[in-house]
Amino acid sequence: MSCNVRIDTSSDYLLGKPIMLGETQIGYVNFGMHAKELTITNIKIFDEHQNQGYGTQVIKILEQKAKQNSCERLFVFHAPNSRSERFWLRNGFIVVEKTAVFCDLEKKL
Ligand SMILES: CC(C)(COP(=O)(O)OP(=O)(O)OC[C@H]1O[C@@H](n2cnc3c(N)ncnc32)[C@H](O)[C@@H]1OP(=O)(O)O)[C@@H](O)C(=O)NCCC(=O)NCCS
Repeated sequence: MSCNVRIDTSSDYLLGKPIMLGETQIGYVNFGMHAKELTITNIKIFDEHQNQGYGTQVIKILEQKAKQNSCERLFVFHAPNSRSERFWLRNGFIVVEKTAVFCDLEKKL
């Protein structure tokens, strides 16, 4: 699949960095790099744009960014929800810890 989304990292936004499709914002993502890992603290594709592969494209962009910065893994934590968990698993993440209230996943690079 060709990549036609981009992450607007030009300035700091409170909510997250806009995910752009052309001139349209289709979501936002929050992430940070620290100690050789890139942590995704939040990702949202707006409802009307979900399920079209854009979230997957964003993960690929972040993975490239992490590799360029010599990170050894991607990390994400989220409230357990079987549907979003499937999204992470399909994108190559594995569950490292799971309780009733949170789920930590990682993707080694
Ligand atoms: C999870 C999310 C980022 C995925 O982005 P996307 O562009 O819709 O995903 P893709 O098209 O690349 O992949 C589709 C998969 O995403 C997941 N997904 C799609 N819509 C979803 C929703 N409303 N809630 C949870 N997961 C969803 C599903 O696993 C779906 O596969 P399925 O149809 O077989 O269930 C996006 O749907 C979203 O913002 N959901 C609501 C917020 C959220 O759950 N964020 C993740 C926790 S931080």
